[in-house]
Amino acid sequence: MKEGDFSDFVETTSEPENGAVSAYERAAEEGIDPRCIPQHLDGPPPVGDAIAYPDYPDLDNENWRFLFNRQMELLPGRAGEAFLRGVEILGMTPERIPPLRDLSRNMEAATGWRIARIPGLLHEKDFFELLANRLFPSTDYIRGTDELDYTPAPDCFHDMFGHMPMLTNPAFADFYQLFGQVALNAKGADRTRLETLHWFTVEFGLIQQAEGMRIFGAGILSSKGEVVHALSDAVTVHPFDPDRVVEQEYDVWHLQPVLFALESFEQLVDGFRSWTRSKGLLT
Ligand SMILES: [Fe+2]
Repeated sequence: MKEGDFSDFVETTSEPENGAVSAYERAAEEGIDPRCIPQHLDGPPPVGDAIAYPDYPDLDNENWRFLFNRQMELLPGRAGEAFLRGVEILGMTPERIPPLRDLSRNMEAATGWRIARIPGLLHEKDFFELLANRLFPSTDYIRGTDELDYTPAPDCFHDMFGHMPMLTNPAFADFYQLFGQVALNAKGADRTRLETLHWFTVEFGLIQQAEGMRIFGAGILSSKGEVVHALSDAVTVHPFDPDRVVEQEYDVWHLQPVLFALESFEQLVDGFRSWTRSKGLLT
């Protein structure tokens, strides 16, 4: 992808065969980054206080500090109020990679969401199941120094800094749980529509505030290039309408030319609920 890393889940029906070469071994043979191979959870992941804090090398904390400071400098006047408040609520600082258990405790106090530590890119069913249970799947490893501007794989800067602040907002938090519940039961074209809706809200969403247009999407807010581009004249912004959003084409390899803006996060959860009912996706 051009900027950042936005693939939180991957749709695939292929299953590893017993005795066959593992997906990781095959990826290595084919020159594919093994971090981009979706994984099934082989059991319940550790949640909240059960998540151990890794013994990060100094370089990992330096990379966190660099990324955190670089994004935070760009965010005033660009990031939405709810996102910036979320960074404070979670207690994120540039000092070091925050412990997932601390973020989970602060998130739980705000909205009842907790954090589950996952090993990397997940198959979509595992991903949706966690969301449906108000558990946010997060990695705990960070990109290397050579990938500060771009990484094709999930990492904790995108998961923590990009996604977690919005999960301290009650309306967004309710929307995301509902999204998981609906996506878990959706099939075929409906899954694709939901993936598109995820893209234009959770990853690339904008919100119209009294002071002007602001960003809340994790794919934009964790990427240096996208955050500058998203509010520029190069982007056409449409009002949020789920029927319109799900038909919008997008290209994950380039900066986004079309985005959608909410009026409020209540509009997101209410609009999504109405849309899923109208499509028979919510019983
Ligand atoms: Fe993401």
